[in-house]
Order: sequence, then C-alpha cells, then structure tokens
Amino acid sequence: MKNIVILISGRGSNMEAIIHAAAAEKWPARIAAVISNRADAVGLRTAALAGIPTATVEHGNYPDRVSFDRALAEQIDFFQPDLVVLAGFMRILSAGFVEHYRGCLLNIHPSLLPSFPGLSTHRRALEAGVRFHGATVHFVTQTLDHGPIVDQAVVPVFEDDVEETLAQRVLSEEHRIYPEAVRGIVEGRIRLDGDHVRRSVRAAD
Ligand code: GAR
Repeated sequence: MKNIVILISGRGSNMEAIIHAAAAEKWPARIAAVISNRADAVGLRTAALAGIPTATVEHGNYPDRVSFDRALAEQIDFFQPDLVVLAGFMRILSAGFVEHYRGCLLNIHPSLLPSFPGLSTHRRALEAGVRFHGATVHFVTQTLDHGPIVDQAVVPVFEDDVEETLAQRVLSEEHRIYPEAVRGIVEGRIRLDGDHVRRSVRAAD
C-alpha cells in the first residue's frame, strides 16, 4: 500500500476527485493525510469528513520560506509518503524542498504548460485569444509551474467565454486527468526517469 500526501490551500476539488477515485477504483494506495498552509481551507473539512487525517502548517507562523518549507516537510514526512500531490497548493516552494521530494512531487496547473505559468491563467488565455486551453499534470522542478509533463487535457475556447466558464471547463478536465495520473504513478505505470516521464502499460516490477 503506497502513501499519498495531498497539499491544498483552498477549495480542494482536485483533492476530492483523487480521494473519490482512490476509493472507487481500489487503488493500491491510501490518502495518508491532507495538509494545508491555511487553517480556513475548505478542503480540510472535506478531507476530515472522509476520515482522512488533516494537518495545518500556517506559513504566517514562520519568518521565511525556508523555515516554513522545513516545517512542512517534517509534517509531510511524518506520514511516510511515497507521493506528494500538490492540489491547488498556492505556495512557491524552496529549492531544498523540491530536491527532497524529487521524482515524487506532482502538481496540476490550469494551463497547457509551458503557456501561462503563474496566476490568472484563464484571464490571460482569453486575453491572448488562444483557441485551445487546458490543464497540465507535471513533476515539480525548481522552476515555477515547470517540469516533466505527465499528462495534459485540452479544451476549446469559445467566443462567448468569460473567465468563469473557461475555468469550469478546464476544472472538469483537471478532475479527470489528475486522479488518472496519480493512479498511474502509484501503480508504477508512470515514473520519472531523469528528466523524462516513462509510461508503460503494465506496472514496473
Ligand atoms: C486548480 O484549478 C489548480 O489547477 C490550480 O488551483 C486550482 C485549485 O482548485 N493550481 C494552480 O494554479 C497551481 N499553480 P481546487 O482547490 O478546487 O483543486
């Protein structure tokens, strides 16, 4: 049984999709904990209601990024994770943190990377006039919203779209591809090999 630790900062709808898929599809993995940097994150309640241990490490309680990341890593490691899943975790992570979880730190970003890293991706996509937008699941590296791509989902952009309609279309796809990617990793069908993602039909021995 693999241990998955999920990090959130807010709503936690991607977390919820992963919790649901893990149970419904009987993954060889458990959601060992959900950890937030904000005590008021709605997703913490959702996780607790699902019977999952939760914890908060408030970034405001630490003088700098490195000391926060150190405390966060200590809390994560308490749950002995095989995979750490960022699901709307809105913090830039220090180099030491990223290195500590190299190959087992996954993120989802609401754009077709490398387009639109950073915030307000849907507004920027509309401003740029792109015909297609989407979401990307990737292993985390030291560059923000960058790293070996595990999966992407593409959605059309319609002429009458506003930020909210486009965000909703992308989010529905996030809820599809993120659980699939996490499942592939815990089942050993998807793995990081250097800077490349390797996929196989069957699990690695
Ligand atoms: C999701 O759209 C996720 O892709 C995005 O935050 C949202 C969280 O929603 N993440 C980022 O922008 C990371 N750079 P959720 O809390 O309902 O899963």
